[in-house]
Amino acid sequence: MSRQNIFDDPYFFSSYQELRSGKNFNELLEQPAMRALLPDIRGKKVLDIGCGSGINCLEFSSQAQRVLGIDISTKMLMSAMKENSAPNIEYRLLDMEKLDEIDEAFDLIYSSLAFHYAVDFPRLIAQCFSHLNRGGILLFSQEHPITTCSVNTESRYVKDEEGNVFFKMADYQAEGERHIRWFVDDVIHQHRKLETIINTLTAAGFTIQSCTEPCPDRKAIRQLPRLANELIKPSFIIFKAVKGD
Ligand SMILES: C[S@@+](CC[C@H](N)C(=O)[O-])C[C@H]1O[C@@H](n2cnc3c(N)ncnc32)[C@H](O)[C@@H]1O
Repeated sequence: MSRQNIFDDPYFFSSYQELRSGKNFNELLEQPAMRALLPDIRGKKVLDIGCGSGINCLEFSSQAQRVLGIDISTKMLMSAMKENSAPNIEYRLLDMEKLDEIDEAFDLIYSSLAFHYAVDFPRLIAQCFSHLNRGGILLFSQEHPITTCSVNTESRYVKDEEGNVFFKMADYQAEGERHIRWFVDDVIHQHRKLETIINTLTAAGFTIQSCTEPCPDRKAIRQLPRLANELIKPSFIIFKAVKGD
């Protein structure tokens, strides 16, 4: 299995930046759902895994004592340092599967739409567990298994003769790499079944507090009509898990 750093591809990077500068799924769907689940981070230590250009780190920095943002992409971190820095934020170039190189513990480990890039998910989750203080929270979003499952990702929305729209899904039980076209060919995502995500979290010692499948409201759909497809199937899934006593 291969680990990829697609966000450093110049064409991919500029296309992704452009996507994020307009109305987008992150702003209208994923971020509000994640914000609703945030614990109290006043005076706390936060690790943001796959922090990208640091918009979440900047937001956390107004309340948290310290924020460490890690990412595998130099381009994303350069934009984070340029646009979203603060005295209590540190940005570090680090693969999320090498958390053992971080020598401190956190009260919140946050990750927005990055875990579907992780190759060794059990290792990632075990390392998150060991880098949390007691009572600490792991809050992450990733692509929904319904979204990641199909090997053939072309024409996934189909209409019947009456105009009803359906989402075609396949290959759910076959976990592993998926090569998709997203701005460029061969962007690698990892498909994991829902049972694998849940069982990996509990096997590592986490208690799952909630699972969310973000659904847009009418206002969001008015702003970005493509979000109506989310009423057919969710693109994202969010887990909030706690390291108990
Ligand atoms: C979809 S972006 C999300 C960025 C940011 N979390 C946000 O919400 O704006 C996914 C991020 O995960 C990072 N990423 C992918 N694989 C990674 C890895 N193995 N280790 C660390 N970061 C990774 C990418 O470089 C990218 O910045």
